[in-house]
Formats: sequence, C-alpha cells, structure tokens
Amino acid sequence: MPLVTNKEVLDAANDGGYAVGAFNINNMEIVQSIVTTASEMNAPVILAASQGAISYAGIEYLEAIAKIAASKTDTPVTLHLDHGTDFNVILQCIQHGFTSVMIDGSHLPFEENIALTKRVVEVAHPCGVSVEAELGRLVGVEDNISVDEKDAVFTRPDEAVQFVEETDVDSLAVAIGSAHGIYKGEPKLDFERLEKIDNKVDIPLVLHGASGIPEESIVKAVKLGINKINIDTEIRLAFRDAVRKVVTESDVYDPRKICGPARDAMKEVVKYKIGIFGSEGKA
Ligand code: G3H
Ligand code: ZN
Repeated sequence: MPLVTNKEVLDAANDGGYAVGAFNINNMEIVQSIVTTASEMNAPVILAASQGAISYAGIEYLEAIAKIAASKTDTPVTLHLDHGTDFNVILQCIQHGFTSVMIDGSHLPFEENIALTKRVVEVAHPCGVSVEAELGRLVGVEDNISVDEKDAVFTRPDEAVQFVEETDVDSLAVAIGSAHGIYKGEPKLDFERLEKIDNKVDIPLVLHGASGIPEESIVKAVKLGINKINIDTEIRLAFRDAVRKVVTESDVYDPRKICGPARDAMKEVVKYKIGIFGSEGKA
C-alpha cells in the first residue's frame, strides 16, 4: 500500500500500548530487510532516513526504494526524516513524499527549539506530514550529530508539557538516559522520569539510541509510554559483521554474495526488535 504517516501508526501504538520500530535506511538491502521482516510479522514500521543517508544515497533513490517496498506489502510503512536540523532538507523531504519529518532542535535553548519546531509544524501539517521533535539532549554520535557526556540534558516533564502545547508536534523524543552509538557501560534509563512525562503528555513518546539497551528495559519503557523506538547501530553492526565474515572466510567477489548474507543478518535484528517492541500483528 502507499506510505502512511507516523501520526497514523504512532497514535495507534499509543492507544494500543506498544512501540513501532524506526530503523535507519541507507541502501536497498537495508530497506528490503526492514520491510520484508515487518511484512512477515504484520507489523507497522518506520523507515528512517537521516540527512547523512540522504547525502549518501540521494533523496530520489531513498524515496523510490521506500515507495516500492511499501507498495509490495499490506503492512503500514512510513518514510521519516531522522534528526533533521536543516530547514531546507525538511522542505525537500516534504516535496519528495516523506510522510514524516523529525526536527531536531535539541541543541538549541528551550524557546528557540519551540520556535524552530513550530515553524516546521506550520509547513508540514498542511501537507499531511507528521512532525517529531526532541526535547533534552542525548549523548553519543548519530551521523553528523555528536554530543559529549557533559552536554547531555534529560527531558524535564513540565517543559515537555509546555513544548507540546506550544508546538502542536505529533510525537516527542525524550532524553531519559539512552545514548546514540555503541554503549560504553550498561545503559540505565530513568523510568521515573519517563512515567512522569507520559502522565503529563498525551502524544506518542520516542526513544532514540535504543541499540544495545537490554530487552527488559525496552519492554519496561514501552509499558511506561514509549511508542517509537529508533535502531541504527545494531543494523550497522549486523551488516558489518556479515560482510566481514564473507570476505574473510571466502574469496567471493560477487556483490550479491556479500550483500545477500548481510541483508539476512539485518533481517534477524529487525525481527528480534519488532518482537520485543510488541508491534507484531498490529498492522
Ligand atoms: O536516530 C537514530 C537512533 O536514535 C539510533 O540509535 O545508535 O542506538 O541505534 P542507535
Ligand atoms: Zn536518534
């Protein structure tokens, strides 16, 4: 079916008490691994393209690949800009059929984050495009965004209420202790803070930096109100490990024999994540 919006799949997740997986895409094999798995599991799914992915693959290629993948399944698929920081890229995504955009103003002072997010909502909503914003700041590296430990800021529940009211955003990414990239130690989420935010804010909440978070913590976060979970690093690692295995253990040089096993390995990651997010059978 055609691409659907994040608002559609995330409002349903909010009502149903589960989370939809948002997996980062950079090429055809990644898109295929995500959509084929979601389709097999009857799970709604979000294809997340960062500004870096758009620079790498080209926006037309990502748009075309995502639309073809969605057209081959009955499960809801969305195409979402992940960590948009450039207003022009947001406009480009809206023009190129993205059904959702994230405006990441988390590096800005509170009022400036509100103003920027409002500006994006004003252009996106009339075009039927959903908007995700971020309040608080996650530590770690995601594509072109890098935040030191000393600069990390947890989301304040009262600010979250004001932010949502003033911006009319559709979903909110919260900083509760997760980090982008590979964790150095055991990730510890601030569940009390999450519960407080969820009690005060009605819209779906988003957990970034979810690769490497243990299953029990993910399940608890979903129970306490997380409805969208972002996974990038674990897909990258599955791809890298599978490619490395093939090229070190054989002398194949056919890209299909290198990327094919990588696609299978990424499917396993997506399958496991959809299972613990609780979105299997929710299409
Ligand atoms: O926006 C993307 C995700 O937050 C990626 O997080 O590095 O833990 O996979 P990750
Ligand atoms: Zn993120």
